[in-house]
Formats: sequence, structure tokens, C-alpha cells
Amino acid sequence: MANYPVDMSIKPEVQGFYDEATATISYIVKDPTSNAAAIIDSVMDIDYAAGRITFDHADMLIDEIRKQGLKLEWIIETHAHADHLSAAPYIQEKLGGKIGIGENIKIVQEVFGKIFNEGTEFQRDGSQFDALFTDGMTYKIGNMTAFAMHTPGHTPACMTHVIGDAAFVGDTLFMPDGGTARADFPGGDAGTLYDSIMKVLSLPDEMRLFMCHDYCPGGREPKWETTVAEEKANNIHIAGKTREEFIRVRTERDKTLKMPTLIIPSIQVNIRAGHIPEDKDGNQMLKVPVNKL
Ligand SMILES: [Fe+2]
Repeated sequence: MANYPVDMSIKPEVQGFYDEATATISYIVKDPTSNAAAIIDSVMDIDYAAGRITFDHADMLIDEIRKQGLKLEWIIETHAHADHLSAAPYIQEKLGGKIGIGENIKIVQEVFGKIFNEGTEFQRDGSQFDALFTDGMTYKIGNMTAFAMHTPGHTPACMTHVIGDAAFVGDTLFMPDGGTARADFPGGDAGTLYDSIMKVLSLPDEMRLFMCHDYCPGGREPKWETTVAEEKANNIHIAGKTREEFIRVRTERDKTLKMPTLIIPSIQVNIRAGHIPEDKDGNQMLKVPVNKL
């Protein structure tokens, strides 16, 4: 494992906000020694049938940041989500902060640029984002030094963000009873996902892990926080399984999964850092590519 600058003495305050419609957890991460904060994986609400966009979930985050008098420094996407739309530009407009994602977003932009037949005006260089994270890259949130860890497999651009003793794993792991994220999207790979999970699980045992999704297995209440030790001991796709066994379980399960309901609008928006595409007359407009996914 690369030499990542882990510092368990930094203990950020973490608040999770569960979005029931998409089973996504958005986070506000606060530096305990200043008023600096980051938002990780925000959600823009969509009524896809009606083509209607609203901002109730994002407004909740914005109100919370304002109520606590925080200074928003970062708006981070763990990856280009296929199941919800990011509200990053809306939040940035209200509160400032830099929008960041893994640098392999360029690969995701290339792949989906083709699928959606985007024109040359759609840049595939990640320039829609303010920052592109690379493996091991550090950044500051107030006095805290955080770092990004490249954890591909679910998508090529997936990053785990480690902020002191808290790691935001995106869609690598779910809670121990939920297993792991799918690896069958374009650019996904089950073996690569296993290797990334091993990277996450080589962090210290007491590292707090925060999930991007929770699908409430067995109908339990939503949960989003666990630890490296708990995942190692109990994750139903990982504990006691070899790499080969994991690949088999993951691949079998992926064959049974339908495309996420919101993949078509989500990808178009999220490869643009959360901006809704516009037609030649400047109308916000989404496409449906037929038989391409
Ligand atoms: Fe995802």
C-alpha cells in the first residue's frame, strides 16, 4: 500500500443526512479547531417523470452550514454517481467552496460522452470541476489535512476521502450487512473493486468509515457509520472470502441488478460537475440514449 498520510489524531465532526429517495448519505464534515467544513456527496432532487428539479435536500445542508456559521471550503464527489444527481453547483453558488472529484472523471467523461453522443462543446478533461484528486493527494479543510485514495472498481474515478480518523468510502463498501457496491457499470471491474476494498481495509482498525449509500437490508433503519475492524470481521461479501470468491459473488449479484432508476439523468448531470446540460437555445434538457446502456 502506498504511504498515505494517515493521522488518527485529527477527529472531524461528521453529520450524515440520509436521502430516502435515493438511499444516499450526504455529509457535512467540520474541522473541530476552526469553522471550516466540507460537504461530501450532495443530492439534487429530481422528479424524473415530470422532468422537475428541486433542492430540498441541498437546502437542508445549506441551512445547517449557515446555522452553525461554517465556512464551506470543499464540495466533494466521491465519484460520478449513477443513482442521484449532484447539487454541487447549487451549493457552491450559495456558499462557495471548491468542487472536487477524482481525476479519472476524464475516463468517465470519455465513456459516457460517447454513449450520450455529446458534441465537442462537452469537454472531457475534467475542467467542469475546480479540483481533480489523484491518489495520495492532500488538501486542507481548515487546519485538517485530508487525502484522497484512489479506490476504483465501481467506477474508474472512485476516490475514498480520508479526513483524520474518518474515511468516506463512496461506493466501495456498504454497511457490513449490505456488502459492497456493484462493479458492472462501464469501466467497472469486480477484481479491481476487491483490491480497492483491501486498500480501505488496510487503514487502521479504529478508522471510522462513512458509507455513501444504505439500502436498509431486512428493512432495518438506515445506518451509515462503521469501522475498518467491523467491516473486516462482518462484511457479508468480504469477511472470510478470497479475491476469487468475491469476484464470483459480485459478478453473480450484478447479473441480477437492474440499471438504477436515475442513471440516465444522473450521469449527464454528474459528468458536468452537477450542471444540467442545455440545448442549443439554452434550455436545460436531458437525453435518453436508446439501447446504449
Ligand atoms: Fe455510485
